[in-house]
Amino acid sequence: MGVRPGAKEEQASPACMQHPHNFNNCFCWWTMSEKIRVCVIGAGPAGCCALRHLTAESDKFEAVSYERNIVPGGVWAYTDRTGKDETGLPVHSAMYDKLKINVPKELQEFPGFPYPKEWKTSYISRQQCLQYINNFIDHFNIRKNIKLHIVVRDVSPIEIPGSKKVKWNVVISDTRKMDDVTTEIFDFVFVCIGHDSNEYIPNIPGMEDFKGKIMHSRNYRHAELFEGLDVALLGIHYTGEDVSMQIARFARKVYACHDRDNFPPSFPSHIEQHKPFKRMTKNGIVLPDGKEVKVDVVMFCTGYRYSYPFLKNDIIQVNDERITPIYKHMIHIKYPSLIFFNIPRQWSYFPHFNEFAKLAVRIADGRVKLPTEKEMIKDSEDDYQKRLEQGLKPRYAHYMGDIDRQWGYNKDLAKMGGFEPLPPVLEKLWDDVMDERYMNITHNTEFNYEITGKDSYKILNPEGSKTRLSKASG
Ligand SMILES: Cc1cc2nc3c(=O)[nH]c(=O)nc-3n(C[C@H](O)[C@H](O)[C@H](O)COP(=O)(O)OP(=O)(O)OC[C@H]3O[C@@H](n4cnc5c(N)ncnc54)[C@H](O)[C@@H]3O)c2cc1C
Ligand SMILES: NC(=O)c1ccc[n+]([C@@H]2O[C@H](COP(=O)([O-])OP(=O)(O)OC[C@H]3O[C@@H](n4cnc5c(N)ncnc54)[C@H](OP(=O)(O)O)[C@@H]3O)[C@@H](O)[C@H]2O)c1
Repeated sequence: MGVRPGAKEEQASPACMQHPHNFNNCFCWWTMSEKIRVCVIGAGPAGCCALRHLTAESDKFEAVSYERNIVPGGVWAYTDRTGKDETGLPVHSAMYDKLKINVPKELQEFPGFPYPKEWKTSYISRQQCLQYINNFIDHFNIRKNIKLHIVVRDVSPIEIPGSKKVKWNVVISDTRKMDDVTTEIFDFVFVCIGHDSNEYIPNIPGMEDFKGKIMHSRNYRHAELFEGLDVALLGIHYTGEDVSMQIARFARKVYACHDRDNFPPSFPSHIEQHKPFKRMTKNGIVLPDGKEVKVDVVMFCTGYRYSYPFLKNDIIQVNDERITPIYKHMIHIKYPSLIFFNIPRQWSYFPHFNEFAKLAVRIADGRVKLPTEKEMIKDSEDDYQKRLEQGLKPRYAHYMGDIDRQWGYNKDLAKMGGFEPLPPVLEKLWDDVMDERYMNITHNTEFNYEITGKDSYKILNPEGSKTRLSKASG
């Protein structure tokens, strides 16, 4: 592990591994490499998509993905485990047992790689989604490029004297032998580590006195375990909506506490909605009206925060969920050979990973020329200010999922990369299924969809399904 086959004698010397790198006194094997070496961190859907496009041009690129898990698939690699994994690292995946995808698979497809024809259902299970990712890996023959149980521990730039470009020192360990570290050098680093594994738990006064169970939804797996309990959930968005509805089938009482004004009117009425509780006591929560209710469990469905533990603070800064200095939510402005696939939130992930991959490959081989540093900083600042003017909270700096933001952004990416944007049917279908989810949250996953053209789709109501309520046209 850690050395290219046949490259042993050329391996970087210990002096080479220091930061800043001393180029004048060492001989590095990579100076001999003709190909562009790309390190992909993570082998979830984003990392796999990156590998697909890098390996399609294997005459130019040498690509490896380091994946700390024992299997690829990212979030979709479900495990019953919570807390630490077999090697003592935090379990990455927050996937729970009875999870269906939350957009139809027609919006969760890697372009050019359809789901199996015999899968008629649009809202497939987590197991099917993982199978689809594995089919993708095998179809594009990229399993050989994925190095499992390898964790990336540090990524540092190596300045090259007389050049604006840098190389990257990537420090890795086998997760079963964390005391052993190896360093590899790359031209590009694609960061594909997701953004749903560093849970956020707000500090609620009195929580240390609470005698019941406190948990984050990251550790939720099975609804049956809540049989007969009183449960309060705080933060009701995708997770909170789904999990409270699952738990309500078993629990005695469920309190869904949130601060949203755009909450689905179709949410089941037997789940009591409240504004967020601001205090906890020995036995429960104190609602904003001062009433104390007894609960056995408090589950925080308060989402996740960006975290890049292998990047030092002088490379990126995360300030109230705004990551800087980043151009187009993707490209490091000072070091454009550091590219992130996982910054935007709340959008159609899989099709966009493909767009990122196409663009990143074109940046890496020099086909796409980026604007100047100054122009990129201005663009990033303008984008942020526009969001604030639109009324978004500062921490929504990379949020995509409302109005037509993700589709406008997609057009920008396509223009920059010189390729076609995603077909307009995806935007139409997105609007429709989001409206259906809002209007009909208990039944929206019963409907199936078929893409019939670049701009058209069909709605297929399976026998026995309820009436659709979305007013967005198909
Ligand atoms: C519960 C839940 C349900 C979701 N449901 C949907 C859905 O229905 N539809 C949808 O489109 N999206 C959904 N998502 C969003 C999900 O994040 C994306 O679907 C997608 O998995 C993101 O892909 P990714 O490759 O960027 O990240 P991930 O899937 O998170 O994969 C990142 C990979 O990087 C690896 N990694 C992390 N750090 C390191 C390191 N230092 N070294 C080496 N490897 C590392 C991890 O082990 C992991 O395998 C859901 C997320 C959650 C948490
Ligand atoms: N397939 C599925 O069915 C499924 C299920 C679960 C999750 N997912 C995916 O998983 C990802 C994460 O979703 P998520 O719902 O866990 O996270 P999320 O979308 O970030 O939602 C977290 C929610 O908690 C709220 N919140 C945070 N702190 C709070 C506080 N102190 N008081 C009250 N509310 C607070 C947030 O409000 P603000 O917005 O104001 O910060 C937000 O509404 C998403 O990509 C989602 O699509 C999919």
